[in-house]
Amino acid sequence: MTPEPGTDRLDALLAQVLGSVAGEDARLRELVGGIVTHLHAFVRETRPTEAEWLSAVDFLVRVGHTCTETRNEFILLSDMLGVTSAVDEVNHTGPPTMTPSSVEGPFHSPAPPRPLGAWIAEGPERRRGEPTVVHGRVTDCDGVPVAGAVLDVWQADDAGHYDSQDPEQPDGNLRALLTTGPDGAYWFRTVLPSSYPVPTDGPVGELLRAIGRHPMRPAHVHVKVRAAGHRPLTTHVFVAGDPYLGSDAAFAVKDALVADFRPSADPRFGMDGPFLAAEFDIRLVKEGDPR
Ligand SMILES: [Fe+2]
Repeated sequence: MTPEPGTDRLDALLAQVLGSVAGEDARLRELVGGIVTHLHAFVRETRPTEAEWLSAVDFLVRVGHTCTETRNEFILLSDMLGVTSAVDEVNHTGPPTMTPSSVEGPFHSPAPPRPLGAWIAEGPERRRGEPTVVHGRVTDCDGVPVAGAVLDVWQADDAGHYDSQDPEQPDGNLRALLTTGPDGAYWFRTVLPSSYPVPTDGPVGELLRAIGRHPMRPAHVHVKVRAAGHRPLTTHVFVAGDPYLGSDAAFAVKDALVADFRPSADPRFGMDGPFLAAEFDIRLVKEGDPR
């Protein structure tokens, strides 16, 4: 087979670039060598024109210029290309019974400590939204309760907005730090979150439109759990039945993270009208577990 024109020179060029990667840090050399190898392979495969290459550079410059103290367009780009979920996947292996991890997303901020059972909806959504209880137990992968686990939860309101995006919501709204009791149980009262679009007014939104993709994330509650002696977990609880579960713009859905939010009349939760309840148990991996 006749090689593509310039193949020898491209081989020599790649070898020269890889040969120039030096320095003390072996891991950095591996990462830089890997990305150079993949970028060169991409160029050889797709043969971008110079105009296309310049347009890609311009795109990345605009992604950078869109970043502010409170907005990271690069993270959004990584999320939208599934790279964040891929990094999550390679970093969080464990026993099959563990609760799977999922991406943190861009809306985490410090949450107020609240007692178990607290109402975490304190803005106008409390009147509008569908009253909801989320409850469950934190255990290890063998079902042993984890007392003193700290759950950091955050979610959007019934209109799909986080407190940081909505001047009508008080700071810390729809966020909480909850500590499990001796039985590992946790619960809180809230409103049902809505699905929402990722920000589309920047270059990443432009890219989504250009490749014919919607920007929606299925409704979810974010949860981070920290407990002594256990691996930290960052994950989501997704609302079963959401129309975007099969096409999450951030590719973060895992079957085990989808919970039913069912009509309930359970008197334990002290609700004074109809509400939805979702049970979501969290199984942490013990530190030192080789799996
Ligand atoms: Fe979110």
